Amino acid sequence: MITDERLTAFINSLDTGNPAYLNELEKEARKTNVPIIRTETQSLLRTLIAVNRPERILEVGTAVGFSALCMSEYAPEGCQITTIEKYEKRIPVALENFRRFGKSGCIHLIAEDAALALKKLDGSYDFIFMDAAKGQYMNFLPDVLRLLRKGGMMVSDNVLQDGDILESRYAVTRRDRTIHARMREYLYELKHNPALVTSVLPVGDGVAVSVKASRNGCGMQERQPREEESKEPGS
Ligand SMILES: C[S@@+](CC[C@H](N)C(=O)[O-])C[C@H]1O[C@@H](n2cnc3c(N)ncnc32)[C@H](O)[C@@H]1O
Repeated sequence: MITDERLTAFINSLDTGNPAYLNELEKEARKTNVPIIRTETQSLLRTLIAVNRPERILEVGTAVGFSALCMSEYAPEGCQITTIEKYEKRIPVALENFRRFGKSGCIHLIAEDAALALKKLDGSYDFIFMDAAKGQYMNFLPDVLRLLRKGGMMVSDNVLQDGDILESRYAVTRRDRTIHARMREYLYELKHNPALVTSVLPVGDGVAVSVKASRNGCGMQERQPREEESKEPGS
C-alpha cells in the first residue's frame, strides 16, 4: 500500500461499485488469488474511459478478464476491446467469462505472449491498458506507442511497486533488482519521451497516465531539464 491505508479505505467506501456480475467475478478472482486491478484503480479507469470515450481499446494482461469486462461496461456502445494473455490456464477462464456475460462479440482475446502479439497488431487504438509483467513494459513500449493514436491514452498499472520504486537498488531484494531497474527506466521514458505527456499517480500500486501528443499539435514548448532532474531518482 503506497498511500495511507485508512485514506484508501475511506475513498473506496465511497465507491458505488460495479454491476453485480462484476462484483461477483471480483470476489471469485480474489478468492483464487488471481491478480486483478484494485478498487481505486478500477475507479480511475472508469473515469479515464468516460473522458476518453474510446472506440478501440487494447489491453496487455487479461488474467481472467475482469478489467476487460469492467472497461466494456463504461466504454461507449460499439467499443471493441482486444486483450492479450499468455498464461494458458487463464485463457479458457477469460474466454468463458466473456461468453457467460455476453461480451464475446466485443472483447477479443489474443492468446499469445504480448511481445509477439503486439508486433503483429496494426491499426490504431484510442486507449491502451498495460497490466502485464512489469519488467516487460519497456520492451512493449515501442509497439504500444506505434499502436496508440495521437491524442490516445495509455494507462500503465503497478508502476510504483508497492513503494519499492523509490528505494535504492541495494535496498530491494536481489531477486527484484532487475524489475526495479526496468520500472525506473520505464517511468523515466514515460516522463521524458517527447511524444508523451505523463502523470504518475499514487493510486493502487501506482498508475501512470500518458497521452500521446505531438509537440506541434499540442503547442508544447521545448523544455529544459530542471537542475535537480537526474536519471537515477532517489539514488
Ligand atoms: C495483473 S494480471 C492482469 C489483471 C487484469 N488486467 C485485471 O485487472 O483483471 C497480469 C496478467 O498478465 C499476464 N502476462 C504477463 N506477461 C505477459 C506477456 N508477456 N504476454 C501476455 N500476458 C502476460 C499474466 O499471465 C497475468 O495474467
